[in-house]
Amino acid sequence: MRNTRILGIGHHLPSRVVTNADLTAMMDTTEDWIVQRTGIRERRFSDGWTGAADMGAEAAEEALQHAGVSARDLDCIILATLSPDVDSPATACLLQHRMGIGGMPAFDVRNQCSGFLYGLAIADKFIKTATYNRVLLVGGETHSTGLDLTTRGRDVAVIFGDGAGAVVLGPEADTRRGILSTHLHAQGKFAEKLWLESPAARSRPRLTEDMISGDEARIFPKMEGRYVFRHAVVRFPEVIREALDANGLGVADLSLFIPHQANLRISQMVALGLELPEEKVFNNIDRYGNTTAGSIPIAIYEALQAGRIHDGDLVCLAAFGSGFTWASALIRW
Ligand code: ACO
Repeated sequence: MRNTRILGIGHHLPSRVVTNADLTAMMDTTEDWIVQRTGIRERRFSDGWTGAADMGAEAAEEALQHAGVSARDLDCIILATLSPDVDSPATACLLQHRMGIGGMPAFDVRNQCSGFLYGLAIADKFIKTATYNRVLLVGGETHSTGLDLTTRGRDVAVIFGDGAGAVVLGPEADTRRGILSTHLHAQGKFAEKLWLESPAARSRPRLTEDMISGDEARIFPKMEGRYVFRHAVVRFPEVIREALDANGLGVADLSLFIPHQANLRISQMVALGLELPEEKVFNNIDRYGNTTAGSIPIAIYEALQAGRIHDGDLVCLAAFGSGFTWASALIRW
C-alpha cells in the first residue's frame, strides 16, 4: 500500500491585469457591485493567443523543477480545463508536445470548477495502484477569449480570469500522509444552470450566425447565479464533512481549507457554517477572479509561498461548479 503526495507545484498567470475599473469601461458595472458580490478586485487576461497548454507548460516547468523531476520521467499527463485550446485533440496532448516530450498517456478532464479535483482523484488512483510513479496534473483556463464583455454578459464576465497551476504527483510510503482520500459528485440535471451551449457537435451546422449574434448569444457562458450560489453553499460543507468523516477526523482537525475560488461570499458562508476561523481559509480570488480548473493549484501554490502550509498539516481542498459537479480531497502534508 502507498499514498500519493505532491512532489512539486508551479503556476502561471498572464501578465495583463484587468481591474474592476477596466471592466467599467466595457460594460455597465461598478467596482462596488463586483467587490461586494464576489470579492474580486482584479483578474488576469491572456493576450488572446495563449491557451491552457501554453500556460500549463509554464506551470508544469516550475512544478517539475520544484519536484526535481525531469519531464521525460513523467508517466502520465492529465489536464483539467473547461476552455480547451481546440475542440480536438485533448489540450493535454498539445501540452505534452509543447513540453517536448511524448509517448506517455495524456488526456483532458472536463469537469469545470471541480476538474482539478477530479484529475487529482484519477492521478491518486494511478499512483496508489502503482500503475504510475510520476503524474503531471495541470489545471488551466483561458476564459477571457470566451466572455461576453458587454453589459449583456456582465453577471458572468466579471467573475472569471485566466491562469494555470500544475502539480507533479508521486508515491508516499507513509500511508498516514499525502492524499488521504478524494470524493467526487455530479448532478447532471442542473447542467443548464451554468453552461456554454455553442458551438456544439449536436447542432448542424455547429456554429450559426444566430448563435453568435442572436438575442441569446449562445457562444457565451450562461449562469443562473443565485441558483448556483444556493447549491454551492450546501454542497461545499457536505463534501468537506464527507472527507473528514471518511478519515475519522473533524473540522477542528483542519489546518487549512483551500476552496475553489468561485466567489468570496461562498467561501465565507461555507467557513461560517463549518465554524472555521478566517485564518484557516485561503482566499486569493481578489487578485485572480475565478480561474476554474486553475484556481485550486494556484491557491495551493500561493498558500505554500505565504507559509500557510506546514509539514504535518491537514489540508482540505473542495470545489463546486458547472455540471453541477462537486468534490473534495483531504491531504496530510
Ligand atoms: N454589475 C452590476 N450589476 C449587475 C452585474 C454586474 N456585473 N451583474 C448583474 N447585475 C445586476 C443584475 O442585472 C440584477 O439587476 P436587477 O436587480 O435590476 O435585475 C442585480 O445586479 C442583482 O443580480 P443577481 O444575479 O440577483 O445578483 P446576485 O446577488 O445573485 O450576485 C452573482 C450575482 C455574483 C453572480 C452571484 O449570484 C454568485 O456569485 N453566484 C454564484 C456564481 C458562482 O460562484 N459561479 C461560479 C461557480 S461555478 C464555476 O466556477 C464555473
